[in-house]
Amino acid sequence: MIVCVCSNISERKIRQAVDNGTTSMSQLRNDLDLGTCCGKCHSCAKRVLRECLADA
Ligand code: FES
Repeated sequence: MIVCVCSNISERKIRQAVDNGTTSMSQLRNDLDLGTCCGKCHSCAKRVLRECLADA
């Protein structure tokens, strides 16, 4: 599932980032450019990040 349409970032990409040590939205923003355009993905990305961290 694509989370951030603007930067073409999938749920899987977020999961990979968490596997590589990402723990925050600001890291996702810096590392993947997530949420840097329209910002509509923010709440969805936050939820996915939280789920990934819970699974980790
Ligand atoms: Fe993520 Fe637009 S959908 S910045």
